Amino acid sequence: MTEIKKIGVFTSGGDAPGMNAAIRAVARTAYGHKLECVGIYNGYEGMMEGKFETNLRGKIANIMQRGGTILKTARSKEFMDPEGRAKAYEQLKNRNIDALVAIGGNGTYTGAMKLGQEHGIPIIGLPGTIDNDLYGTDYTIGFDTSINTAIDAIDKIRDTADSHSRLFFVEVMGRHAGYIALHTAIGSGAYSVFLPETDTHIPNWVSALNKKRKKLFNIVIVAEGNKNGNANDIAQKVKDSGFERDVRVTVIGHLQRGGSPTCQDRVLASRLGYQAVNCLLQGDQGVALGIVNDKLQKTPFNDAIYKTKELNTDLLDMIELLSL
Ligand code: F6P
Repeated sequence: MTEIKKIGVFTSGGDAPGMNAAIRAVARTAYGHKLECVGIYNGYEGMMEGKFETNLRGKIANIMQRGGTILKTARSKEFMDPEGRAKAYEQLKNRNIDALVAIGGNGTYTGAMKLGQEHGIPIIGLPGTIDNDLYGTDYTIGFDTSINTAIDAIDKIRDTADSHSRLFFVEVMGRHAGYIALHTAIGSGAYSVFLPETDTHIPNWVSALNKKRKKLFNIVIVAEGNKNGNANDIAQKVKDSGFERDVRVTVIGHLQRGGSPTCQDRVLASRLGYQAVNCLLQGDQGVALGIVNDKLQKTPFNDAIYKTKELNTDLLDMIELLSL
């Protein structure tokens, strides 16, 4: 095992609030252990191009509260090929970077696993995505902020929905997983939620809702990746199936990816960033870190990438009952 002296840290894939808190924790823990820490700009793109921040120490003050990522981020096609990864590794070698902390989602972990397997560099992954869809952690960095942002917007939509007695279909992010939609639905007191994990028969759904029309149901949450299409498609299908009230659509979109991270995301990011450096120093590599039941969990990249964190769809019954 080679002694670790210089750690590289980067963010990759979709940004998430709390990534800056994670960068800060990685860098400050490294400095605390008298290690060097280098920032890598633009994820794997910047790694291949040698875009390194050697003065990271001077960049990490006052970033805890900022959304986005000071190291920027990107999704790289070139890095998916072994040639791209070899190019990146050459850059790391030239700078004497002997370990990495990769902050991102599934695609980030996949790149990290391959880079580690092909070139032997120790890498620790941290779950940075608003989607909360990574196996091996109860929550991902950015999820809590994103659902709070969504709820804040929906509280406002509810005011106008209520005034006009309209039903709003509110689309939230989550191409493959319904965590954002499910939690947003519960937290906003929505009538119903359309998820990627479930199938909703729209004519039946409409006839059930028409029977309840004396009640005022205002909000339905739609996950962008669900089987019935996006919120506009669903609103149209609902109208075509004979829904009797006025309908509107709001797409929250990238609003959910920005903003100052909540305290929960800052704490999660700080704990994981701190542990990433400790784990590297203890000889761990090729694992993603998470917090499960308030305890640190190390999950091999292969499991973190390919195992599915099951959504608790039992909560759907609760949503319907609580909205009556
Ligand atoms: O993975 C995070 C995420 O925000 C998804 O929820 C969303 O589907 C996707 O990224 C959007 O990606 P982009 O910013 O490239 O449009």
